[in-house]
Amino acid sequence: MNLFVLTGAGISAESGLGTFRDPGGLWRRFDPMRLATPEAFAAEPEEVHAFYNLRRQGVREAAPNAAHAALARLEAGLAARGGTLFLCTQNVDDLHERAGTRAVTHMHGEVMRARCTACGEGRPWPGDLSVGTACPSCGRSGGMRPDVVWFGEVPLHLDAIAEALDESDLFVAIGTSGAVYPAAGFVARARAAGIPTREINLAPSDTAGLFMEATYGPATQAVPDFVDGLLRGIDGAAP
Ligand code: APR
Ligand code: ZN
Repeated sequence: MNLFVLTGAGISAESGLGTFRDPGGLWRRFDPMRLATPEAFAAEPEEVHAFYNLRRQGVREAAPNAAHAALARLEAGLAARGGTLFLCTQNVDDLHERAGTRAVTHMHGEVMRARCTACGEGRPWPGDLSVGTACPSCGRSGGMRPDVVWFGEVPLHLDAIAEALDESDLFVAIGTSGAVYPAAGFVARARAAGIPTREINLAPSDTAGLFMEATYGPATQAVPDFVDGLLRGIDGAAP
């Protein structure tokens, strides 16, 4: 069984990290066009740094939850049964990794990393950034930025994601509103390839109608249940 899982902010909600479009969500409180675009960073770098310093602090203070742990268990469980989990996340937090998942594809980058716009060097960066931060590689300051994908920039690893999706036996989306492309288009691509699809979410997403199956409820309950059922199903089917 080769499983493709796409996660969104909803899987980290019960770890205390805000989602974007729910009531009280980040983009309900802040204007993404002023904080999450290359133009915003060029115009007001300190304001953008302050926003991401707050988000980095939130990630440091958060802990992985039972849904993150269940996906780590699923990765190991599938590998032990000759299968694979391709975990693609829209999230920039590191909770999947801290829960033990070994291969995580961050299509929107990682807020706990920084990248120098002068020399291109990227590196882990759990602390604050500012305009005055000097790049440890080239020494220049003023160009260090959060290593995340902003609106108007191209998401990462799209070729590997498309290849894994096309080769999967099941596509599962967890905790995402289906509001942002290209991730929101993955379910249509899976359907076109005849791949079964499931949505696991607190409430029906914008693309709910495209999923063959759906489970609604908090991720910390729905995801472990899903993982247990899937692994039992594989064992039950085994000769
Ligand atoms: N359990 C499961 N799902 C939940 C939970 C929960 N406890 N809480 C919220 N959700 C669901 C909501 O119902 C919603 O459908 O998570 C989804 C969160 O949607 P968004 O806030 O739009 O987050 P996401 O889909 O990840 O956004 C995609 O938009 O702004 C960009 O880069 C940003 O990666 C982000 C992308
Ligand atoms: Zn540099």
